[in-house]
Amino acid sequence: MGPPHAILFVMRMLVGVLLLIAPAFADGIPREEYQARRTQLRKTLDGVLVLFAKADDDLRDYIQEPNFLYLTGWRDPGAVLMMTANEEILFLPLHNRTSEIFYGRVIDPNDKDVFEKTGFNAVLPRSAVETTFLRLIEASPKIYSERGDAQVEKLKGLAPLHEEGSATALVAKLREYKSPAELALIQKASDATVAAHLAAWHAMKAGKSEYEIAAVMTNTYFSLGCERSAYAPIVGSGPNSVILHYSANRRRMDASEVVVMDVAAECGDYAMDVTRTVPVNGKFSARQREIYEIVLGAQKAAIAAVKPGIKAGRGEGTLQQIAYDYINTHGKDSHGAPLGKYFTHGLSHHVGLDVHDPSEPGVELKAGMVITIEPGIYIPEENIGVRIEDTILVTDNGSKILSGGLPKEVEEIERLVGK
Ligand code: GLY
Ligand code: MN
Ligand code: MN
Repeated sequence: MGPPHAILFVMRMLVGVLLLIAPAFADGIPREEYQARRTQLRKTLDGVLVLFAKADDDLRDYIQEPNFLYLTGWRDPGAVLMMTANEEILFLPLHNRTSEIFYGRVIDPNDKDVFEKTGFNAVLPRSAVETTFLRLIEASPKIYSERGDAQVEKLKGLAPLHEEGSATALVAKLREYKSPAELALIQKASDATVAAHLAAWHAMKAGKSEYEIAAVMTNTYFSLGCERSAYAPIVGSGPNSVILHYSANRRRMDASEVVVMDVAAECGDYAMDVTRTVPVNGKFSARQREIYEIVLGAQKAAIAAVKPGIKAGRGEGTLQQIAYDYINTHGKDSHGAPLGKYFTHGLSHHVGLDVHDPSEPGVELKAGMVITIEPGIYIPEENIGVRIEDTILVTDNGSKILSGGLPKEVEEIERLVGK
């Protein structure tokens, strides 16, 4: 039984008031969190940080540049962010009638409610970028920006003698740790992704095309409130199962094949990354099952070793080495050689606003980081490719598998595929 109407009414009013005073720019992240991220970054900022919003690409989806989104929550093109230890300024384009006919009304730096709408105390017109930049760099020897961005390169031409730093590296130090609000969005993306994989297994049938399976998956997470795919869906059957980033998804699937599905949702700008490999007809052959169980064993060994202090990347004692050693000491190819050489990619990467989220090279894992564990074996000669990928949260004592609701034992897969 639900609460009485009067209580429901008061609850709705309260939610309405809260939404009015605490607008979330990007879905689910409160305005205060963006401010806190900027404050944190400015504590150690020893120069001028300049970031440009992603340039508008006309008829393509507009997706904000992730570092810009992370620090501002601002979704529109044409904006610029400048920060020093003491100041943070957002630059916005002025109203433009022609552009607003095509793209809708924008917030102008001279609008009365601009501070409330942006969360910035200092909002200037875009035309003030150069003069403000020249003022700020007078007191700062260093400029932090995204290398290679044409707009940044032009601006840096005004300060050819200044030292250069990477804005991405600075922001990565913050982005490596996920806040509760970020984790809630990542979990939402995970739950929708798990549902998508289960729907694909249910729909799996020899004779269907890979793109039909991709459509079942994307439809599932779109209908669960996720706005995009986190990356181009990969549905690779038979010979395509050995191609790591196959996303043409054009082939008709046959009964005796395995199909690799590396497909995941993005919800409220946060990505998920999940792969499962299943038999098209619901039953692994003996050889497919042997390879599958080696990949699963390697994944379990690596996940069991996740804890703060360990490193993911290559080298002695890393998670990559644990997975490689497992694969290389289990099973053989058709020539009697060990299988390590068929594990042809990295085991892990960070996940967040980007599916391949930035991280410091060689960083030790810490609680609050979100990473994938994704071993694979790809044997072209046998048309067998198997990858198993989960996205996990590093905790104080180990890890939590965020995509753990999706089965991966052989018996469970065989019970669910095609049923
Ligand atoms: N889906 C891309 C990756 O697994 O890294
Ligand atoms: Mn991945
Ligand atoms: Mn993946």
